[in-house]
Amino acid sequence: MAARNLQQLFLFAMLIICLVWFSNAFNPVDNYLINCGSSSSTIIGSRNFSADISLSWTLTAPKSIMANTSSNSVSSFDTPALYQTARIFTRASSYTFPIKRQGRHFVRLYFFPFIYQNINLTSANFTVSTQDTVLLYGYPTREGATAVRKEYSVNIAHDQLIISFAPLSNTSLAFVNAIEVVSVPNNLINDTAQTVNSRSDYQGLSEQAFETVYRINMGGPYVGPENDTLWRIWVPDKKFILNEHFAVFKSYSGSIFYEGGETREIAPDVIYNTATELAPTNTSNARFNVTWHFDADAGSTYFIRLHFCDIVSKALFELYFDIYINTYMAVSDVDLSTINSNILAAACYMDFVMTMTDSSSNLTVSIGPSSLPNFLPDGILNGLEILKMRKQWKLIGGALALVIVAACVVCIMIRRKKAGKKQPSKTWSPLSINGIMSQSLGSGLSDGTNARMALNANFGLRFSISALQEATNNFDESCVIGVGGFGKVYKGVLKDDSEVAVKRGNPKSQQGLNEFHTEIELLSRLRHRHLVSLIGYCDERNEMILVYEYMENGTLKNHLYGSNLPALSWKQRLEICIGSARGLHYLHTGQAKAIIHRDVKSANILLDKDLMAKVADFGLSKAGPELDQTHVSTAVKGSFGYLDPEYYRRQQLTDKSDVYSFGVVLLEVLCARPVIDPTLPREMVNLAEWAIKYQKRGELDRIVDSRIAGTIRPDSLRKFGETVEKCLADCGVDRPAVGDVLWNLEYVLQLQEVDGGTEVNSINRISGLPTQMHHMSMLESETVRESGASDSSDVSMSKVFSQLFQSQGR
Ligand SMILES: *[C@@H]1O[C@H](CO)[C@@H](O)[C@H](O)[C@H]1NC(C)=O
Ligand SMILES: *[C@@H]1O[C@H](CO)[C@@H](O)[C@H](O)[C@H]1NC(C)=O
Ligand SMILES: *[C@@H]1O[C@H](CO)[C@@H](O)[C@H](O)[C@H]1NC(C)=O
Ligand SMILES: *[C@@H]1O[C@H](CO)[C@@H](O)[C@H](O)[C@H]1NC(C)=O
Ligand SMILES: *[C@@H]1O[C@H](CO)[C@@H](O)[C@H](O)[C@H]1NC(C)=O
Ligand SMILES: *[C@@H]1O[C@H](CO)[C@@H](O)[C@H](O)[C@H]1NC(C)=O
Ligand SMILES: *[C@@H]1O[C@H](CO)[C@@H](O)[C@H](O)[C@H]1NC(C)=O
Ligand SMILES: *[C@@H]1O[C@H](CO)[C@@H](O)[C@H](O)[C@H]1NC(C)=O
Ligand SMILES: *[C@@H]1O[C@H](CO)[C@@H](O)[C@H](O)[C@H]1NC(C)=O
Ligand SMILES: *[C@@H]1O[C@H](CO)[C@@H](O)[C@H](O)[C@H]1NC(C)=O
Repeated sequence: MAARNLQQLFLFAMLIICLVWFSNAFNPVDNYLINCGSSSSTIIGSRNFSADISLSWTLTAPKSIMANTSSNSVSSFDTPALYQTARIFTRASSYTFPIKRQGRHFVRLYFFPFIYQNINLTSANFTVSTQDTVLLYGYPTREGATAVRKEYSVNIAHDQLIISFAPLSNTSLAFVNAIEVVSVPNNLINDTAQTVNSRSDYQGLSEQAFETVYRINMGGPYVGPENDTLWRIWVPDKKFILNEHFAVFKSYSGSIFYEGGETREIAPDVIYNTATELAPTNTSNARFNVTWHFDADAGSTYFIRLHFCDIVSKALFELYFDIYINTYMAVSDVDLSTINSNILAAACYMDFVMTMTDSSSNLTVSIGPSSLPNFLPDGILNGLEILKMRKQWKLIGGALALVIVAACVVCIMIRRKKAGKKQPSKTWSPLSINGIMSQSLGSGLSDGTNARMALNANFGLRFSISALQEATNNFDESCVIGVGGFGKVYKGVLKDDSEVAVKRGNPKSQQGLNEFHTEIELLSRLRHRHLVSLIGYCDERNEMILVYEYMENGTLKNHLYGSNLPALSWKQRLEICIGSARGLHYLHTGQAKAIIHRDVKSANILLDKDLMAKVADFGLSKAGPELDQTHVSTAVKGSFGYLDPEYYRRQQLTDKSDVYSFGVVLLEVLCARPVIDPTLPREMVNLAEWAIKYQKRGELDRIVDSRIAGTIRPDSLRKFGETVEKCLADCGVDRPAVGDVLWNLEYVLQLQEVDGGTEVNSINRISGLPTQMHHMSMLESETVRESGASDSSDVSMSKVFSQLFQSQGR
């Protein structure tokens, strides 16, 4: 009886295993299916695409249009319904997706450029990017007016994925018909693969972003999303075969074995059930390859996966063949029998990395006979995936060479060059605007040695276009580290190997250039230890290019959450806050007229190699509140979650708006969480609202970043909480000036250090703080060059220039 029960149990267990084994259903942790511009959800096969209008948390768009079409010219697609609606953007906009499981995801974008009212979407020209990668640059690409489904495979190491759509000029549009963001198994792509051209291994694939360019089912039919375990599309290989008479198509109806780590997520049965084989021959003298030809981009790097499953042999150890990629032998004498467990019909795959030469855009994959004796020519291929590697970027990163030294060197170089050409006055544009500067610079130039003086003078350095072309490999797309409304940001390496960020605006009219010069003059006067420096600019050939220093340690935000960086101590955090406050204080008070930053956030506070804070992206700052009416910048400017609530009422940003945003940054520093987190319960979504409730109840200690909670002295935390609360006052007039905030933060730091083993004189400093602070501000201001032209209030921040400065990091 017991034996019988056991047997039943065993059968039952087998049944469960079989069900699990054969049920196709991979269950993605993150599974966002969005039908954009639609007013109702759309069922496609087994999947439910939600209307983006019903998911208010996902879309951030200053202005967008919901468009629809009745055009059925896409009816041959699997998913025509998804192409019937689109959301059109006139300005940079984004969809945000909370990521529950970090790691590899498919991001699929659907585009069909239809005509809606007067809008012809064929003329749209835009970029799509994530925080890490530019996915698409300059739609329409090769596709023209047809519907396309673009697939990207990205490794997401953040707690949210932000997909941004940015029109490439102020007259073009961006649009999207549907979006999928779906988790895939992390082992889908191994970290290493053999490099075809160099015989070494390519490493780092697991972090890499890819664009799917070809996915082919050899010898078989079209396989649509509903027939694939991960909703991929596989197309037949027929039209890619160069020499079809050498090939035969095979199919097999038996079961496919998945052994040794193979899974149906790598590729489903339907792919392995068919193959293209070398045409049979009865003489070993008949030697030929079967070759598939693909269009590729010269100079790009591709990840190539070949799928095999021996469905043609009658016995093991009969099939041997060679694999070529372009003219390279990738593997010789492949023996599928031994790759997988010595069984026939077992699925397996091989991965390769191939970098195209700069001159060829032909990518070929060939199967040819092995040179082993005693075997008739044969060979098979079941499936093929060709993924293009996308360049990834970190907004700020990489090794920072001493930029100041770099600037010195370049400065000397250019000066020598220009001096040789006897055109000194053309070298420094800001000087020609300001007569006094011009004089001092002129002398600096003619003696040709005084680099230090020129630097101290804080003039923007004028780069030649050729120097920047060289630094960015002629503005090569591979150097693009960001794209915004203004154009692109490139990572540049100057002649001396120092790294810089190069922001290139879209070329504009002569009038635009004049404004550009005026702006440079204003910006080049903003020099401060706690502001990210403008190193130079270029205005040759109507270019509008700005060159900034790189910051080694990236953004403050990145150090707080969403990365694996070690937790900053409370003291480090306070020092960063104090540094940032100094930078802001300088912006507000260092010039004749206050300059409002307008986008204070943790992503705009950068850290140098010593974790010293510098405020970045103050280019959109306005000289004086009265200029705020220019709607372009106000609409785009300011980041959700940081924005002064008073701004909504009065439509005007003041220096107190910066104080509000800075208060939100202080909370981020304390709690180490995003300012808006839609995955949290409703009352917790907005950091400022949530945290201020705790502060008002005197319970701020309950929401401190758990990694440092025990290390903050209660007095220090209390003072910090009070400071934040004042910054976040509803009305600007009730908020302190940033100078007062700075004072308070200094005090918070002192309270933390008091008899915590620090020097006695720190206590003295507390009592003497107000005066000392005043001196400190004065000292900080001394780094500013006193300029003859103090009437910067007349300088109008042109829209053109504001655009140039739009941050890509949103
Ligand atoms: C599809 O999702 C929407 C929510 O986005 C829901 O209202 C609708 O009932 C779902 N439809 C089906 C068939 O599950
Ligand atoms: C577009 O949507 C509107 C409102 O839902 C509807 O009245 C109109 O018929 C639709 N147009 C097409 C071409 O489907
Ligand atoms: C839409 O624009 C494309 C290219 O810009 C053009 O070829 C096409 O004729 C336009 N269609 C209409 C109806 O204007
Ligand atoms: C798209 O915009 C870019 C940058 O402004 C421009 O270089 C490119 O020619 C535009 N493409 C089309 C098709 O208009
Ligand atoms: C848009 O571009 C046109 C021409 O390129 C220019 O005249 C206009 O000022 C720009 N508008 C804005 C808001 O930048
Ligand atoms: C990656 O490939 C290497 C070498 O082929 C193998 O040893 C390793 O197990 C693979 N890792 C995964 C996660 O598949
Ligand atoms: C795809 O799946 C459908 C039903 O799920 C089935 O009828 C069809 O034959 C499958 N196609 C292939 C190529 O397997
Ligand atoms: C080899 O095959 C050809 C046709 O493919 C056939 O004509 C010939 O008789 C075969 N030779 C032998 C020895 O089987
Ligand atoms: C197959 O293609 C490779 C690479 O182009 C070439 O080297 C080889 O000679 C070809 N083999 C045959 C039998 O044509
Ligand atoms: C690329 O392929 C095309 C068509 O297959 C061919 O005409 C051309 O010669 C090839 N170019 C190179 C450099 O191999």
